[in-house]
Amino acid sequence: MKKIGVFTSGGDSPGMNACIRAAVRGAIYHNIEIFGIKHGYNGMISGEIIKMSSHSVSNTIQKGGTILKTARSKEFLTVEGRKKAYEQLLKHNIEGLIAIGGDGTFTGAEVFYNEFGIPTVGCPGTIDNDLFGTDYTIGYDTAVNTALDAIDKIRDTADSHDRVFFIEVMGRDSGYIAIFCGIAGGAEIVMVPETLTSLDTVAETLNQGWNRSKTSSIIVVAEGDEEGNATEIAKKIREKTNNKFDIKVSTLGHIQRGGAPTARDRILASRLGLGAVEGLMKGYKNVMIGVVNEQLTYTPFADAISKSKPISQELINMVNILSI
Ligand code: F6P
Repeated sequence: MKKIGVFTSGGDSPGMNACIRAAVRGAIYHNIEIFGIKHGYNGMISGEIIKMSSHSVSNTIQKGGTILKTARSKEFLTVEGRKKAYEQLLKHNIEGLIAIGGDGTFTGAEVFYNEFGIPTVGCPGTIDNDLFGTDYTIGYDTAVNTALDAIDKIRDTADSHDRVFFIEVMGRDSGYIAIFCGIAGGAEIVMVPETLTSLDTVAETLNQGWNRSKTSSIIVVAEGDEEGNATEIAKKIREKTNNKFDIKVSTLGHIQRGGAPTARDRILASRLGLGAVEGLMKGYKNVMIGVVNEQLTYTPFADAISKSKPISQELINMVNILSI
């Protein structure tokens, strides 16, 4: 393989730049020409393809966002769009791709291979940590630490005013951010889409805490929880507890997607970016590279996308035990 492309796609996550850097420098080290494709699949279709040099990734390892920009491409969902993308790759003689993104990105890459035969190795880049085949995804650790910093600050004011806070964190279908920052932030309750949490239990836990002279509480809610978002849940709890508590809601939102990546994310991203180049060289295709028990692994896209990575029951139980 002499020429490859790298791109970021879907929601950005801190550490994507470290991954691009590792892919670019890893390719150059192995005498492979590497092109950056901007705006994800959209740029592949429109031909936003630029030759990368070692210098083009200087001073990027510490930066959040993605220097290659990103998009969720509607046009790539069509066969016409994918044909245009293939023609653009042909123009540059690009024979393989490194896709940094999540499940939507990998689904597109697999379809693209089946139609046009361009192999892709995927690097898991999403704050949600919802991909099977890797213990952690690029950006997750940073997002957890960003959310935790906010929770610590909210706890100060919650305590001063004797308030109950519902704090909503990201995670469309996944409670990973919620469970980690909930445990690390000492939350009384964590509500995640993976488990059913009855609102009666939430009300009861708050009442029991009140009876034990607990004057403030933090409830971390993953945005994808089955009971709704934090605002909706807070409304239901106000009703269930007859407005006994002074309840506030804070939605952390996109701050979780930005900022300088943690050391953990930079190291993970560097390993995955270099491993993706070396995976393509070894002939891997339609696989996601990951780190499982500290070892690099390659998991078929089909498994990475469809298999679930459940949150450990031990962590879920621990929230209840430690919040007494
Ligand atoms: O998949 C990452 C993620 O941040 C989810 O946690 C969230 O639901 C979604 O992206 C938000 O996407 P957008 O930035 O397009 O609103």
